Amino acid sequence: MVQPILAPRQMLIGGGSLARLGALLRQFGLSRPLVVTDPWMVSSGMVERCLAPLRAEGMAPGLFSETVPDPTDTVVEAGLRALRAGDYDVLIGFGGGSPMDTAKAMAILAAAPEGTKMRAFKAPAAADRAALPVICVPTTAGTGSEATRFTVITDSERDEKMLIAGLGALPLAAVVDHELTFSLPPRITADTGIDSLTHALEAFVSRRANPVSDMYAREAMRLIGPMLRPVHADGADARAREAMMLGATLAGLAFSNASVALVHGMSRPIGAHFHVPHGLSNAMLLPAVTAYSLPAALPRYAEAARLIGCARAEDADQVAGAKLLEELRALNRDLAVPTPAAHGIPQERWEALLPTMAEQALASGSPANNPRVPSAEEILALYREVWRG
Ligand SMILES: [Fe+2]
Repeated sequence: MVQPILAPRQMLIGGGSLARLGALLRQFGLSRPLVVTDPWMVSSGMVERCLAPLRAEGMAPGLFSETVPDPTDTVVEAGLRALRAGDYDVLIGFGGGSPMDTAKAMAILAAAPEGTKMRAFKAPAAADRAALPVICVPTTAGTGSEATRFTVITDSERDEKMLIAGLGALPLAAVVDHELTFSLPPRITADTGIDSLTHALEAFVSRRANPVSDMYAREAMRLIGPMLRPVHADGADARAREAMMLGATLAGLAFSNASVALVHGMSRPIGAHFHVPHGLSNAMLLPAVTAYSLPAALPRYAEAARLIGCARAEDADQVAGAKLLEELRALNRDLAVPTPAAHGIPQERWEALLPTMAEQALASGSPANNPRVPSAEEILALYREVWRG
């Protein structure tokens, strides 16, 4: 079997690495960057940390700062207009998953004929072409988008989070600097951290797992598992921040090369219809979906439990699997993850949308990578179970 493995051409990893962003561009012969970010990065002054090293290299970076959470096709089109209005040779996605995914989608759309809609690239279509390279600088330890061949864009007409996959979405380079995450509040730290853990776990149990994705997933779980609580309790804990940041990038490499599975498949519709932050909807689903999937890949889940640190090396697989379920429930309690009901979603709307959500989950293709592949009815049952908490 032939296994393609994808990764950015260069990753600058470590505290203070953002200071070298300008030199990194120069190394690739790039000098006309458009920085893609969100309004908060500008109002908080954080964006200066990205712009300063570019200016220090004599560059005059452009700025598109209108990205939104759960980035939409319309925002990508606005970004494309900003891109075409200037003379740029590289996009820099600076922020959480949304700015990075917006930058990737802009590069893909810019390579398509005028008037093409983002939905033309929805998986299983291959989004292999990009008009210009993208460099990603994450400011959360979460999506791992800096290292993946994916971007997730919402179709604003259909309220659907579209998975878009291909070489066109793979960044040329990434700057992974945990010092950017010190000021994140506990809620975002927890949500993004659970997203990373979910990436590593889903890549590890995926039907498309392979020796290389396993290597990334194992190390990501080893780094993230013991640090979720410390980093939530004390955002200034540099050791925890560093481990979470590296863990998130490694988890990105893991799922980029093995795909995510049922948790992400079911999570995207919750995000699209109810605007629950991505990591939080994953967290709501993770215990129930893991309990459902566990019998189909017990040795893998047991190993994950040992790597995360909630089971001992000598525990039998059954014991380790049970401990994993216990740990995922405990994590949600300790990190104050609400049920959909407690998050304020009205039950009638949840029930009314379930058939559409189940259909969209299945259509994304992610559930087919799960060790136990669910029917639409089983997905409905899982959504109802998650509602009850
Ligand atoms: Fe995710």
